[in-house]
Amino acid sequence: MIIVNNVRQSVENRWRDLVDNGKRFTGISPNVDPNTPPDWFNANKFRKSQQLGRKYYGSLGFGQFLGLMVMLYHTEAYATLTSTGQSSNVQKLFRRYLSTLVHVKHWFDFDPFDVNSQAYQSLKYVRGLHRQVASMLTTKWERMEGRDDLPISQYGMTHAQFAFTGFVALYPKQCGLHGLSDDDFDCLLYFWRVIGYCLGCDDRFNLCNGTADEVVGLCQLMFTREWYPLMSADLPVCEGGVEMAKGICLAMNQLARFISYDVIMKYWYPILSIDNKTVELQTYSEIFCI
Ligand code: HEM
Repeated sequence: MIIVNNVRQSVENRWRDLVDNGKRFTGISPNVDPNTPPDWFNANKFRKSQQLGRKYYGSLGFGQFLGLMVMLYHTEAYATLTSTGQSSNVQKLFRRYLSTLVHVKHWFDFDPFDVNSQAYQSLKYVRGLHRQVASMLTTKWERMEGRDDLPISQYGMTHAQFAFTGFVALYPKQCGLHGLSDDDFDCLLYFWRVIGYCLGCDDRFNLCNGTADEVVGLCQLMFTREWYPLMSADLPVCEGGVEMAKGICLAMNQLARFISYDVIMKYWYPILSIDNKTVELQTYSEIFCI
């Protein structure tokens, strides 16, 4: 009980720090050197996390897909993503998210600290994209580091980590991950701790820093305090974000038939206790996922 209370307090403090301070720090932290593994890096544990990532690729992708939909409820994440023109129609969305799948596959397959590997090259490329977009929007939106909320901030990075792994952390069984040992579960979170580091997450704000209990606790707070209110609002706060989410589903339906906005939300709303929303599936294709 004492341990549980300690975890609760530490998670509460981390969430407060993230919300109060994380938006003012750039998402590519100067405290991170992506060429050098952090002192907490454990190569065997990371390799195991990659093996598990490959083994459970489908279930992890299922959780990730909801995360992506939910990320778009944030007005600023949506504004950042639309700013580059890579999400302006269904064809572009297909290219954008197919490319993301390929990047993530490289991260599961290769060594992120070997400068010649596809994982290292991919992470370097993504960091470069983030830096470019952040710099362009910081100027355009007249933001100043240390004073204002920044585009692609540490706060944004933590939320993007949530998009990739938060629902897997909170609802492993509902993502299809049955019978995971505690160690395997811990490793799955560890993977995103390392990838977060490689992309510039400061340890202070890294979602997956800490014990599995802490990570799950932080995910729980982020979901209930930030995303639940947005998802359950009668009218979407960011209408464009919902439209983009639907566009991504339309695009990625080419890869897997279950990918339909209504099918996904019909499955997840009851699990997430979003009781004020109901979805009626309209077509045989949606009902039978064919
Ligand atoms: C854990 C954190 C993150 C991961 C793993 C991640 C992953 C990626 C990947 C794989 C790409 C390359 C996509 C491509 O092939 O073009 C990318 C690009 C991009 N990311 Fe991130 N990202 C993260 C955080 C963020 C955040 C917080 C934002 C802000 C909303 C963001 C906005 C973008 C943008 C604007 C691009 C350029 C491509 C486009 O215009 O859509 N990312 N990211």
